[in-house]
Amino acid sequence: MRIAMGNDHAATGLKMEIMEYVKGLGHEVVNFGTDTSDRCNYPEFGEKVGRAVAAGEADCGILICGTGVGISIAANKVRGVRCGVCSDATTARLIKQHNNANVLAFGARIVGPELARDIVRAYLEAEFEGGRHQDRINMFTEIEGRSGL
Ligand code: RB5
Repeated sequence: MRIAMGNDHAATGLKMEIMEYVKGLGHEVVNFGTDTSDRCNYPEFGEKVGRAVAAGEADCGILICGTGVGISIAANKVRGVRCGVCSDATTARLIKQHNNANVLAFGARIVGPELARDIVRAYLEAEFEGGRHQDRINMFTEIEGRSGL
């Protein structure tokens, strides 16, 4: 898969580790930065990854900030993005199986590198189950329409 990755200054070290891990699993990574520990603004990176995924330039995205929350909110403002924040592998699996999340987020201040790898692997290996879940995904799209997104 082609995976878009982005992060803020709170997560640069973990992003670098996860980027190598994801490549080691055989995926291609498109890195949107930041690649330094200089203070920056997480909405910028959430939007960049969200737009790449929504445009079909990447199959899915991985976002990391301090908590995973701020950067996920930014990504979810892009029409077509379904980004979930995970601190465990079970949630990571379920956001793909049930919510068809096209972006995974987590927090570098919340999960350590081992758990982060487990979360990423669970998310990447899971598949959307469709069926009744698709009806609910369609409702997300209806909400976007009513919100003018
Ligand atoms: C940056 O200090 C921090 O606010 C950010 O990484 C993130 O946790 C926001 O949700």
